[in-house]
Amino acid sequence: MDGPTRAATRLDRAWATLAQHRDRIVSLHLRDLFAGDPERFRRFSLRQEDLLFDYSKQRVTAETMALLHELARAADVAGWTDRLFSGERINSTEDRAAYHVALRNRSTAPMRIDGRDVMPDIRAVLERMRAFADRVRAGEQLGATGKPLRSVINIGIGGSDLGPAMADQALGKWRHPGLQLRHVSNVDGADIERALSGLDPATTLVIVASKTFTTQETMTNAASARAWLVGRLGEAAVGKHFVAVSTARDAVAAFGITRENTFGFWDWVGGRYSLWSAIGLPLMIAIGPESFDRMLEGAHAIDRHFRGTSLDANIPVAMALVGIWNTNFLGARAHAVLPYDHRLRRFPAYLQQLEMESNGKRIDRDGRTVRHATCPVVFGEPGTNGQHALMQLFHQGPDPVPTDFIAPVEPDHELSGHHDILLANMIAQSQALAIGEDEAEARAAMLASGTGRETADRLAPHRAFPGNRPSSTLLFRRLDPYTLGRLIALYEHKVFVQGVIWGVNSFDQWGVELGKTLARKVLPELSLNALPAEGQDASTAGLIGHIKAMRAPAP
Ligand code: F6P
Repeated sequence: MDGPTRAATRLDRAWATLAQHRDRIVSLHLRDLFAGDPERFRRFSLRQEDLLFDYSKQRVTAETMALLHELARAADVAGWTDRLFSGERINSTEDRAAYHVALRNRSTAPMRIDGRDVMPDIRAVLERMRAFADRVRAGEQLGATGKPLRSVINIGIGGSDLGPAMADQALGKWRHPGLQLRHVSNVDGADIERALSGLDPATTLVIVASKTFTTQETMTNAASARAWLVGRLGEAAVGKHFVAVSTARDAVAAFGITRENTFGFWDWVGGRYSLWSAIGLPLMIAIGPESFDRMLEGAHAIDRHFRGTSLDANIPVAMALVGIWNTNFLGARAHAVLPYDHRLRRFPAYLQQLEMESNGKRIDRDGRTVRHATCPVVFGEPGTNGQHALMQLFHQGPDPVPTDFIAPVEPDHELSGHHDILLANMIAQSQALAIGEDEAEARAAMLASGTGRETADRLAPHRAFPGNRPSSTLLFRRLDPYTLGRLIALYEHKVFVQGVIWGVNSFDQWGVELGKTLARKVLPELSLNALPAEGQDASTAGLIGHIKAMRAPAP
């Protein structure tokens, strides 16, 4: 047997062994697992500095984890991790490296692509970002009329928006008090209208963030912002009020943004992995270069943990493997992320792109259809809000929704009472999901509180909680730039490990292309003067016709 065949056989065997194991333990309830092992929390929780990852409420045994580790070995997670960290072109369909770990490399070690160290380029851009951010923060970056720039609008979408927007919200406490930062992503004019409203163009800095500088939404919003500014301050003001973050220098120059105001990055930085690059400029302006550096350091600490920790103590590996177990062996098709920290309320949206754009694939790296499920639907809401909305389904719906609970042990506010209530609710939710309450217990509780027997019997099935619903909990001391960096990097590496095991390329996103092409065809057909749409399916033609009919002036 040759090497690749042997590896494929080992992988097939690992999947098959896990399936047999699942059949043996699937009837085990988390109640029994906890009752049978007082040490379960210790056995199934991992630490990195002050960060705790508790996965004892996952439906796993020591044997499950051992078999999942064998799956990771059979899929060569270690080999792929080496390729990731050595700048190999692992994004095979785009023939690029995926080298976001270089962006936050805080060591003196070189990081090479094709033998060339990319660290000098990375450091040079970071230096320019720092100098620029410091000038804006100090009120020294002046607009066309000589006034300091005090409002910053970041225009971008997807990876050019979600990271800075999420992190800006998460790190509000670190934000410069004299600056305001707004984020625009949606091509819906309502978004840019809201962002521009009340702003003085003379004190506004617009950052156009787009890796390609061709994205329709971003370029449309940038054009509207430009018209807004030029209409008030004249064409010559563009150079003082617009900054670009992009890999496409020529397109940036054509827009009228100077080289001095352009912050570059590289094709090996994927959009959803780009917060660490110049895409982080608006965040750096808001929280300051030192805090931005702390975020990079946090991510780098997780890079070291991921790379240097054995499979059984490795947090991103454990996150990935319990996700695979839930998705591929217990049949879960959704995954919820519930931050019990209101500042992290955009974190689920950030993870949606990270996870679903990376691993929402059905074709493997070799072009074959995958034989198993890949990325589940990722969604979430901050706790405790989610408890009053989506968690009914989590507790009593027919299908379990594996959940990540995330919380800081210490709040960053002085209000008494709130944080313990928040944490108590989070812990209670994970306990209710895992342990549940059966019909007999529900009936007994009703009888004890004075409910009549007949009513108690009738309501017991409605009031029972099956439990055995898996969740993990991530706890850390405080939410700060360092820890936000760690959190993001944890999920990045989780996604990476899952992609390796599912056999997909986590770094392309061809699934977004068809819609873009079709939108370009539909756009002119919406015009009132356009002839009725030809070659469109009946629904598409019908919708276009309906819109035009509603817009047509009354006869
Ligand atoms: O359409 C998807 C996507 O390509 C994302 O991957 C990316 O983050 C986003 O669009 C924005 O792209 P750009 O930075 O090139 O404007």
